[in-house]
Amino acid sequence: MKILVLNGPNLNLLGKREPEIYGSRRLEDIMSELSHVASELGVEIKTFQSNEEGALVSRIQQGMDAVDGIIINPAGYTHTSVALRDALTACGIPCVEVHLSNPYAREDFRQKSLTVGACIGQICGFGGTGYKLALQALVEMLK
Ligand code: DQA
Repeated sequence: MKILVLNGPNLNLLGKREPEIYGSRRLEDIMSELSHVASELGVEIKTFQSNEEGALVSRIQQGMDAVDGIIINPAGYTHTSVALRDALTACGIPCVEVHLSNPYAREDFRQKSLTVGACIGQICGFGGTGYKLALQALVEMLK
């Protein structure tokens, strides 16, 4: 089983970026820990981060025939991107949305996700642990 893990804009700055909200761990560390969990579950993960909306759309399209599931933290594009929502819907691959913070406890503009409607569900507010929870849930659903 292959799972694509996508991270959107500014998540490459994790560790330095607003640590009081997003924690002090770097994206590389969170993804490397996720790889260990994936090995334990017997699945393969491929990770991709981009600050560009089109690059994320293209990566989803490339995954169409190559992966069984997608975990995505669309970051700021969560609240703005019809293109990402359409790509997730079009690919037809089961997806889970993850957020490190709890957007529903933050500013009003973060309380609407355009992308979650194309996903099985969403995990938010658990920091990097959310990716592990998403992987466990997705693998369970795909079995
Ligand atoms: C985020 C929440 C978004 O509102 C924000 O724009 C991000 C990160 C999160 O993981 O908590 O960049 O997706």
